[in-house]
Amino acid sequence: MELSTKPLTGMRQLYPDEMAVEAYIVGRIRDAALAYGFEEYDGPTIEPVELFLAKSGEELVSEQSYLFEDRGGRRVVLRPEMTPSLARMLASAPEVSSPVRWMSFPVCFRYERPQRGRAREFRQFNLDVLGSAGVMGDLEVMLVLDRIMKNLGAPDGAYQIGYSSRELATGVLERIGIAGQDGQKALGAIDRIGKMQPDEWTAYAEAVLGDPGRAVLLGRFASVRSLDDPWMRETASGLPGFDSMLELRRLLEAAGLRAASFDASIVRGLDYYTGTVFELSDTGGGNRRAICGGGRYDNLVGLFGGRPMAGVGFGLGILTLRLFLETYGLIPADPGAASRPDVFVAVYSSAEAATALSWAESLRSSGLRVMMEIEGRSLSRQFRAAGRCGARFVVVAGPDEVASNTASVKNMETGETTRVQAASVAEHILSVPGSRQDSR
Ligand code: HAM
Repeated sequence: MELSTKPLTGMRQLYPDEMAVEAYIVGRIRDAALAYGFEEYDGPTIEPVELFLAKSGEELVSEQSYLFEDRGGRRVVLRPEMTPSLARMLASAPEVSSPVRWMSFPVCFRYERPQRGRAREFRQFNLDVLGSAGVMGDLEVMLVLDRIMKNLGAPDGAYQIGYSSRELATGVLERIGIAGQDGQKALGAIDRIGKMQPDEWTAYAEAVLGDPGRAVLLGRFASVRSLDDPWMRETASGLPGFDSMLELRRLLEAAGLRAASFDASIVRGLDYYTGTVFELSDTGGGNRRAICGGGRYDNLVGLFGGRPMAGVGFGLGILTLRLFLETYGLIPADPGAASRPDVFVAVYSSAEAATALSWAESLRSSGLRVMMEIEGRSLSRQFRAAGRCGARFVVVAGPDEVASNTASVKNMETGETTRVQAASVAEHILSVPGSRQDSR
């Protein structure tokens, strides 16, 4: 039987040109986070299922997780997200001083129907601040998110960061007579509002709440797009969740984060959020799915016993972000250019191979990226290969060169060839401005 050439549906398989795009995106994200003092961490890919049963939510575990029994009989999942692992890491590291500013690029797994922006294996960027309970922490992570978009060249107005608050939503729902279990169900209904037709949603909300009047009020709340909305002001006045939203708005304005705006329809699907919640989306309609989602989770670390620790952060899908960048033409034409070899060492025949090898190694020791011929092809084919790989210089080791211990060095940009003492080739190449790919 022949083996299939396809990976399993929805699994991540990136060829070098696709990986170059991802590396470019990841590099810009990392730069933005480093600008705010974040440190990188990682966690296990396989976790006990209980970790996610506790607070991530029913849908994520029972419908979307890769759940199996390992050889030791433990029920484990391929991590569908990173936040519970992060919470556990901090719960067991009391020596880490807070506030903690941590970031990670985990590969996660969810058994979803693969479609635009949704895969079963996907890479996320996670950024979280823990040990800081105030609105400044919320602002900090939203600022990094905005900086990431700016670093990637996203124009003003192409994306928006909608924010709201679980605390506010719960408070308002109580005031309009939707409390307790019904309150939880109502949050779930709000989370679906953007995914359904208006009529369909109304029928759904009525069924969930068992009462058309309360469904109308729920729809009214979810339609609020400004903290100055008169109905909202009247209904939410004096609620702590409302005051913290007003404070967050004040800080966002002071920081000049114009992409952020209040949106009561954002409640987020994960159960652990307790306060501010937010999502980043494309305003142009080219990408329906959220590019990033996050929020405040003040009770997650405390689940592990030990000290309680407030947290706020977000997960940004690299795939969803890439689609956004493609939509707006923001991926550079040759994202892999900076990591190409500087030099191709061409070898005339096997007689020159040993010398060529020593030249190549010595160039690498000087910090240059060097690809050397290993196939014994004709020189013309080697020059073509050098052109394809983007090397800026070709160093030829032919019989004359080896006998005289001088290499022929061709500058591929100018076409000029120079004979250079073998010991000085690196110096010669490095003296040419922009000779190293990553210095461009
Ligand atoms: P989430 O909303 O489940 O949040 O995921 C965050 C982002 O991950 C989504 O907005 C999307 O870009 C990406 N994503 C999710 N599922 C998929 C998928 N199947 N394929 C491709 N991309 C996907 C969380 O995961 C939270 N743990 C985020 C967080 C961190 N909250 C606080 N800290």
